[in-house]
Amino acid sequence: MINIAILGFGNIGSGVAEVIGENQSEIQKVLGDSVHVKYILDIRDIPGVVNDINMIVNDPDVKVICETMGGKEPAYTYTHQALEHGISVCTSNKELVDAYGVELSAIAREHNCSYLFEASVGGGIPLLRTIREAFGHERVSRIAGILNGTCNYILTNMKAGKDFSDALREAQEKGFAERNPAADVEGHDTARKIAILASLVSGKKFSYEQVSCEGITGVTQQDIADAEARGMSIKLLGVYESEGSSIVVAPYLVPSSSPLYGVNDVFNGIMITGNMVDNVMLYGRGAGKRPTASAVVSDVIECLKNQGSNVHTGFADLEPVMSASAPSKPEGSKFRVLGA
Ligand code: HSE
Repeated sequence: MINIAILGFGNIGSGVAEVIGENQSEIQKVLGDSVHVKYILDIRDIPGVVNDINMIVNDPDVKVICETMGGKEPAYTYTHQALEHGISVCTSNKELVDAYGVELSAIAREHNCSYLFEASVGGGIPLLRTIREAFGHERVSRIAGILNGTCNYILTNMKAGKDFSDALREAQEKGFAERNPAADVEGHDTARKIAILASLVSGKKFSYEQVSCEGITGVTQQDIADAEARGMSIKLLGVYESEGSSIVVAPYLVPSSSPLYGVNDVFNGIMITGNMVDNVMLYGRGAGKRPTASAVVSDVIECLKNQGSNVHTGFADLEPVMSASAPSKPEGSKFRVLGA
């Protein structure tokens, strides 16, 4: 039996415990051993839950920690401590990966453990693993993605006639939205995610602050109707293009000929263009308890299969990108149009 711990027992953390509990026999099959949640840490006083990180990092039985707390602190301090003790950390925390992912990945490498963050982008879609393992040899020229389930849910429901605030409330009730939903609707969550993807494929560290970012709060029912009349759909996209190190988050007009046109509700779709493979689209649930928790557990399994060594993500070696650009909007138009 292999022991792990979960930090943060909210939506995703409790989902991790559920995935491990319910899919134990599948996990056992793939690992040849069972996984047991020995500790759950939360800052709230919940029965059976611990508050002291030292109890966890000083327990030699704990092999992996799932950090599902979100935010920078105390997640950064706890992750740092765990990695320095040689305990691998798997996270859904894109804010932490964007801000400290390079440093934490270097600490993991130094201590022969891993820092993995599959769940930080694209919810349950095996996106980072695909980029790392299947596209390592590709020259990726573009990534265009619907990366925020909440915004896509809102835009899909607005197209069906629903009010912005009603659709946002529903997304919050379904557990898709961030604690502060401004991070979703202002595009900051998408900016963190496209910065992580751009960093993975370019070998240079893009940070969220470098992303030209516009959310969906300015999109009106009229804009959506006008787009529909032109055979297009409005989607919040994160777009990275290697040429000119261009990176942008904005509502785009997506033509019906694009596979991203039909990506609706909480689903995410990410179109990756490689110089050999051409276009590949990955699609799935971009937010929500179980899909995101499933991605965390996929990282737990990868860490456990590589116990005592470091899973190379490339993040530890990233140099900061000096300047990033953004494509300008066509003159007189409120929106950019996604090209082929
Ligand atoms: N608030 C995020 C979203 C959660 O709606 O996509 C998943 O990262």
